[in-house]
Amino acid sequence: MGMKFTEFKDQAKKILNIDLDGYKLDRVERRTKSLMRRYQVKDYEQCIELIKNDGEFKDAYLNHFTINTSEFFRNPENFEFLQSDVLPKLFEQKKKIKIWSAPCSNGSEPYTLGIILKEMGIDNSRFEIYATDLDHTILAEAKKAQYKENSLKNVSDSLLKKYFRESADEKTFGLKPTIKSLVKFEQKDLINSRFSNNWDLILSRNFFIYLTKDMKDTLIKKFTAALNSGGYFFLGNTEYIFSPEQYNLQKIFQSFYLYEE
Ligand SMILES: C[S@@+](CC[C@H](N)C(=O)[O-])C[C@H]1O[C@@H](n2cnc3c(N)ncnc32)[C@H](O)[C@@H]1O
Repeated sequence: MGMKFTEFKDQAKKILNIDLDGYKLDRVERRTKSLMRRYQVKDYEQCIELIKNDGEFKDAYLNHFTINTSEFFRNPENFEFLQSDVLPKLFEQKKKIKIWSAPCSNGSEPYTLGIILKEMGIDNSRFEIYATDLDHTILAEAKKAQYKENSLKNVSDSLLKKYFRESADEKTFGLKPTIKSLVKFEQKDLINSRFSNNWDLILSRNFFIYLTKDMKDTLIKKFTAALNSGGYFFLGNTEYIFSPEQYNLQKIFQSFYLYEE
């Protein structure tokens, strides 16, 4: 009898050093199978061998497994609320605020924050934007900050003109250094690592959807422990926290929660 998926997952977990048990199992299985089909891998044994010995396949597995879809101003109404309500309140209370985008994918999300802060006329000395992701390939793209039109569909023409430079072949738009320089990127596995604290705003959007209920619960506890009292937790549009009061969170708008100790 060939290797079963659970056995594959336990071995892959060790080689990749990723806690695959934290992710919804059926999804990990589906993603694994679709990559195996694409690379014509015949069974889980061969897939393990490739992950172990073929660096390119290992990267392809990680890339396929971590869905990197992102865009500037994703779900714009939430960023409008951030600009009109959350950020003014935070700046009223504090001289300097700390923001963490976790996970940040190709950088569209933390750079959107940079654009909003510049549009609000906030001085760079009054905020820090930190952005992390598990996937080093996507982080390299984030640092390059060169985007195709599909990432920019929610960016108005005036913001596009102001903050981006169109490439000579007109296929991509490069973010200008004024915004690029505002974000500090770092590789970080949110499941396996410890969090630093004192954050005023944490964005963890379109990540919980991939996790098991238990892992989601563990991460909400880790994120809230990292937030300052009076800080905000910003999730993806389809992500909800059931009984938020158990984590000292209060829902204030669609995907926004206020944390108060
Ligand atoms: C769909 S993107 C979300 C990006 C952005 N927050 C947004 O909403 O547009 C999900 C990201 O989660 C990252 N990811 C998956 N597992 C992770 C982990 N254990 N630690 C950190 N990032 C992880 C993936 O690499 C991917 O870039």
